[in-house]
Amino acid sequence: MQQKEQLYEGKAKKVFATENPDYVIVSYKDDATAFNGLKKGTISGKGVINNKMSNLMMSMLEKKGIPTHLVEQIDDRNTIVKKVSIVPLEVIIRNVAAGSFSKRYGVPEGTAFASPTIEFSYKNDDLGDPLINDYHALALNLATAQEIETIKKMAFSVNDAMKEFFRGLNIDLIDFKLEFGRFKGEIVLADEISPDTCRFWEAGSWDTTKHVSLDKDRFRRDLGGVEDAYEEIFKRISK
Ligand code: TMP
Repeated sequence: MQQKEQLYEGKAKKVFATENPDYVIVSYKDDATAFNGLKKGTISGKGVINNKMSNLMMSMLEKKGIPTHLVEQIDDRNTIVKKVSIVPLEVIIRNVAAGSFSKRYGVPEGTAFASPTIEFSYKNDDLGDPLINDYHALALNLATAQEIETIKKMAFSVNDAMKEFFRGLNIDLIDFKLEFGRFKGEIVLADEISPDTCRFWEAGSWDTTKHVSLDKDRFRRDLGGVEDAYEEIFKRISK
């Protein structure tokens, strides 16, 4: 499929038009940001890993009956996806307390939950993606009540499938962020699933005082070994 003009450049990806109005090409960059772009850097090889990993995850989820934007990988960094209209919500599922949850609610990182939690942020960089609830999303016309229900159900199904998948790789899926889009009247899973958007902890490596991160927290928190962590995750999922 022929790549046409650039439609958009985000922090980690570029999006290009194609000759098919229903499809776009996403191109994954090595650029990394954190804290709403305040911290900037490069993670060498990240674009290749995130592209291939996201496609592997989306294919696995499709097989479990979850509709996604994935059409076809073109090469190491580029993938054809459905041209969706993104629902401006960041949907975060958590299995174990970490990150902003631990900070906000004063719960030590590594505290396991009795059952998974879901939260929404309003996807708006100028506002710093503030936490919102379903009623805020409805009031702001970000999604319909039916879309929110569909998104919640899909997000928990993704969690079930991913938790099981990563358990088999000796990795605990701590939390992750999803984005959804509308395509021909249907809600589909969009954006990416990668170490940029998930917390992966080495299984058995953690309690509430320490853990081994195999994800973007190594960049966010200056832990070192960032590239190695991305490569390790990719090695395990490609086996
Ligand atoms: P948080 O604990 O900082 O709220 O992050 C929760 C999860 O969401 C974590 O797996 C990282 C992911 N995430 C993103 O994908 N993009 C973001 O902008 C943020 C803040 C978090």
